[in-house]
Amino acid sequence: MRREAIPSTPSRGSNLYLVGFMGTGKSSIGRELARSLGYRFLDSDAWIEEREGRSVREIFAAEGEEYFREREADFVREHPREGCVVACGGGLVTRPGRLAALGEKGVVVALYASPETIHQRTSRNRNRPLLQVENPLARIRELLAEREPYYREVPLGVSTDGRSFGEVVEAVRRIYRSARA
Ligand code: S3P
Repeated sequence: MRREAIPSTPSRGSNLYLVGFMGTGKSSIGRELARSLGYRFLDSDAWIEEREGRSVREIFAAEGEEYFREREADFVREHPREGCVVACGGGLVTRPGRLAALGEKGVVVALYASPETIHQRTSRNRNRPLLQVENPLARIRELLAEREPYYREVPLGVSTDGRSFGEVVEAVRRIYRSARA
């Protein structure tokens, strides 16, 4: 397949937002999509960490979850309006009005994975405070059940189970292209 050249000036298309549970691949898929579209890659967690000068884990430990959710609200208000692929933290859309705010700036795509896949993908990473519990798989099932209604509000979704990285990237790219056309 022919590789697309990366434009020397950033593209100015509407943003592409990836939402979904932890471990569904938002950051890795998003980074690759940004590269191929010639967009800037943004990660809401990284944006908050940079502004706060501390990690998500430290923020949760020192200030609690609600403080972090408010910083996500700052991100939603303040990030650029176009030319970005944005990986949204898994809980970002679980507060009122967040999804609508993203939808005003661009195309929102939800990524899905089974609890087992999520467990496998997140077990190597200790930087997810909500999963630092004795039985992470049970916690994943519980949180997924709570959050499913929010993710299902997004009309465009891609299941990542049984699909290669490249297949997911392509599927999201197609959706983005037809949604913004
Ligand atoms: C969270 C997901 C994390 C991060 C924080 C809380 C959540 O982001 O924002 O640990 O509530 O689901 P990722 O989805 O990028 O892991």
